[in-house]
Amino acid sequence: MSIQEKFNQLKERNKQAEQGGGKERIEKQHKAGRLTARERVNLLLDSETFVEMDKFVHHRTTNFNMDKYKIDGDGVVSGYGKIDGRLVYVFAQDFTVFGGTLSRANADKIVKVMKLALKMGAPIIGLNDSGGARIQEGVESLGGYADIFYLNTRASGVIPQISAVLGPCAGGAVYSPALTDFILMTQKNSYMFVTGPDVIKTVTHEEVTQEQLGGAMTHNQKSGVAHLMAEDDKQAMMMLREMIGFMPSNNMEDAPVKSSMDDIHREDQSLDTLVPDDPNKPYDIKEIITKVADDNNFFEIMPHYAQNIVIGFTRLSGKPVGIVANQPQHLAGVLDIDSSMKAARFVRFCDSFNIPLVTFEDVPGFLPGTAQEFGGIIKHGAKLLYAFSEATVPKITVITRKAYGGAYDVMSSKHIGADVNLAYPTAEIAVMGPEGAVNILYRKQNLSEEQKKEKVEEYKEHFASPYKAAELGYIDEIIYPRQTRFKLIQALDMTENKNEDVPPKKHGNIPL
Ligand code: HXC
Repeated sequence: MSIQEKFNQLKERNKQAEQGGGKERIEKQHKAGRLTARERVNLLLDSETFVEMDKFVHHRTTNFNMDKYKIDGDGVVSGYGKIDGRLVYVFAQDFTVFGGTLSRANADKIVKVMKLALKMGAPIIGLNDSGGARIQEGVESLGGYADIFYLNTRASGVIPQISAVLGPCAGGAVYSPALTDFILMTQKNSYMFVTGPDVIKTVTHEEVTQEQLGGAMTHNQKSGVAHLMAEDDKQAMMMLREMIGFMPSNNMEDAPVKSSMDDIHREDQSLDTLVPDDPNKPYDIKEIITKVADDNNFFEIMPHYAQNIVIGFTRLSGKPVGIVANQPQHLAGVLDIDSSMKAARFVRFCDSFNIPLVTFEDVPGFLPGTAQEFGGIIKHGAKLLYAFSEATVPKITVITRKAYGGAYDVMSSKHIGADVNLAYPTAEIAVMGPEGAVNILYRKQNLSEEQKKEKVEEYKEHFASPYKAAELGYIDEIIYPRQTRFKLIQALDMTENKNEDVPPKKHGNIPL
């Protein structure tokens, strides 16, 4: 073969590999409203930056005559490229090739990019769309999954790991996304479950559709397994690009600063009247977040789940921060099992990756009731307490209104290591709300309604304010709400070089 013929051969081989499972299967994929693995990767990465690895890998099994069916790439497209000029590793299961199923060779490709991502210190993004374990390969496929799970765990807290579920993801295969930091699902086309509707019908006689059991809304709203939802593949890729911009490449770096034209001194007068006078009147905490954020941009995580707490990323003076905020508009912003777990995992992500935490607090306490107690609110609430206490990133708290009871301690209080604690003049920091307190304090004294009212007013004056806490140094400064943006930026600036040692240990034992 001449050199020219060898070049032509390479061209042909590349062309063939890039066709994946062929025209018919690609058309079927498109008809189902899904893009192919390569189309997804090209949308995800900066233009022309994708470097594909292992393009010609084949499976090695001979079971079920599989040696007669080999397709270049073996059902996964893997390699590296850039997002906003920053290195990321990626693997995308190719449903058009053996249903994107995991063979030994296919798993080895994923393992290879995961190991590279760990060694080079760059995020890994997995685009999942697969029929699961390749049945023809049996335990070799299961071994491949376990190798991936092991690396997911090793990489946890070292490099950001993000999963998009863009098609089927069933059986044990769900555990790789579950071990990663964030899961994004597409509406209609994606589903995740450990056992499918047919098995469920046989075992428990429940009838449920695939969508109800493991669709995007189910996992974004009910189970809390997924963190984000996109309309389609295209929007999903854009969301992944935006999300990665808030994260450092690895745990040894700071998150990238994005220059902003938004004035750091910008005051927002409307904030002064946003928290209602009436402590029982709800308001939207997201309004405060967006009003103080650079360019009013807030990237919310898990917007459909446990809406009594709000989490997400934003930037202040260009620096990424993680936001945790009680939401008075939903269940009065109470802490319960779901909201504690939602926030705790996010706090730990931010702490793992050096992203400062800004907490907005307006919390009437923990949700009472047998459902919560029997469900283990003690251990789940402890997760949030543990996560905030353990975090050594800069921690800044703003109490906007209620900070009652144990929830005051939990929500990044001074006592559990917050660096800057601010309060609005409307803050009420006390063991409990005035009515509850008066009922307990004077329960043996048979007070008339009039007397009760007086006592409530007395309690409010003495306790339902930020001044007692400020007198004790638990609150560093009482601020005008309109100044929140600048006050937070000042606090972030002051804490920039924070260096806090923790006692040597293998790892803590968070109440799981
Ligand atoms: C081998 C598979 C396969 C599998 C799909 N295919 N699943 N090949 N092993 N697990 C092949 C099909 O034969 C077909 O090949 C191609 O992929 C596309 O599949 P279709 O059925 O045509 O597509 P669709 O109608 O969209 O249905 C997709 C599907 C269905 C819902 C995923 O294929 C399905 O139910 N597959 C089985 C899923 C499953 O039970 N997997 C095991 C889960 S347990 P051709 O050549 O016709 O295109 C598991 C354990 C992991 O994964 C354990 C880890 C610890």
